[in-house]
Amino acid sequence: MKDFITQEIRETRSETETLVWAENFAKTLAQGSVIALFGTLGAGKTVISRGICRGLGFTGQVNSPTYTIVHEYPNPSIPIFHLDLYRLPPHADLEEIGIDYYASQKGVTLIEWPERLDSEELLTHKISITIADDETRHIEVSRKA
Ligand SMILES: Nc1ncnc2c1ncn2[C@@H]1O[C@H](COP(=O)(O)OP(=O)(O)O)[C@@H](O)[C@H]1O
Ligand SMILES: [Mg+2]
Repeated sequence: MKDFITQEIRETRSETETLVWAENFAKTLAQGSVIALFGTLGAGKTVISRGICRGLGFTGQVNSPTYTIVHEYPNPSIPIFHLDLYRLPPHADLEEIGIDYYASQKGVTLIEWPERLDSEELLTHKISITIADDETRHIEVSRKA
């Protein structure tokens, strides 16, 4: 059994504030981090992914890889894998997706719609985003204890 402990609770009042927060959060990440991003459509999973990528030095386009499942961003520092599992069936097989492969690459793996996973075994962080109102987001970060 893997336990997660709350690391940070934060409220942001704009997309930019979330981006800046995520950029700074990225700098706390070790190689091999696997981050699950929970939140409904439009909560800000991709905004946070974009901020994390920027914080790691990747300044190119970051969009939800909805149709391809995974995007790999060429990054001079460490590899970044961005997954969106929205289109996978519930309880999808981790091995089929290859998440264990990404997790072993000593980069940073970002997972949108992690509810589709059947196990939280490989996760190092969970970020839950909830919509408070149009411009306000509640962000809660927990990490593997
Ligand atoms: N405080 C905020 N933080 C992040 N995004 C916000 C915030 N306020 C409004 N937004 C908007 O919410 C949307 C989030 O979209 P996106 O990151 O694609 O969501 P998801 O990937 O969770 O479906 C964007 O249109 C963004 O401009
Ligand atoms: Mg998205």
